[in-house]
Amino acid sequence: MDVRNLHGSGSPLSAREPLAEALPGWAGRIVVAEAAAELGEVVAAEVAKALRADPDLVLGLATGRTMEPVHAGLVRRLQALPSGELNTIRDHWRSFNLDEYVDLAPGDPRSFGATMRRQLGDPLSIPPERLQLPRGLSADPAAEALRYREAIAAAGGIGLQLLGLGHNGHVGFNEPPCLASAVGRCVELSPSTRLQNGGLFGGDPAAVPARAITLGLAEILQARRILLVVSGSSKAPILSRLLRESANPALPASWLQTHPHLQLWVDRAALDG
Ligand code: GLP
Repeated sequence: MDVRNLHGSGSPLSAREPLAEALPGWAGRIVVAEAAAELGEVVAAEVAKALRADPDLVLGLATGRTMEPVHAGLVRRLQALPSGELNTIRDHWRSFNLDEYVDLAPGDPRSFGATMRRQLGDPLSIPPERLQLPRGLSADPAAEALRYREAIAAAGGIGLQLLGLGHNGHVGFNEPPCLASAVGRCVELSPSTRLQNGGLFGGDPAAVPARAITLGLAEILQARRILLVVSGSSKAPILSRLLRESANPALPASWLQTHPHLQLWVDRAALDG
């Protein structure tokens, strides 16, 4: 199938097993980087380019290991801009993260809010109110999910959405099974997700909060452009399923195939295992 290789001057990659068997719907929508660091750089370059073209772009952001090199690359690229241009991007910055744990204070270093401030907000001096996340400490998480959806709608929706991929096929915290019509809500996290995210919680899945507030697939699919980023050999089994399965509730990320402006950015390890 037709795949863009970052190093290939226009020539598609040799069709290795996973790509040869991919559904035709993925044709021309996959970009392959050799390694995770390079993947982070090229995705960061794409986001920086989009922000420079339109500082009013509303970003949809994600946390997780996949996004760490993306955030680092974005910080480096934006800090290297002439100060006037960086100031414009900073002053116009509007981003909405996908999700946040319920019952973790925003000051808790394990919260996604604290992670975003560490990785992006502080190094770029973005005012905290411009880097938005669901409020995990809200007394009524369902009402908070609704407020958050309305805030995104009031901002005109997401222009560019970054997504990582869960080992069980989740995007945001849309755990399987999940319909494309699911809206932002409070969810119970699956054992697989608590295991995947245990790193910041001393490696103990039971210490990972049991609930989170997440944007739904409905809001994600309304983003004008989506970059799904998949990195590392641990994602090879779920990426392989994603490339072969048509859209279905058991694999929430599979609904992304229906989006007209989706690109899948992967590294070799995720592709080859
Ligand atoms: C997490 C988050 C997602 C994230 C994904 C991948 O649970 N809710 O927003 O993108 O799973 O995480 P990682 O990049 O650490 O594999």
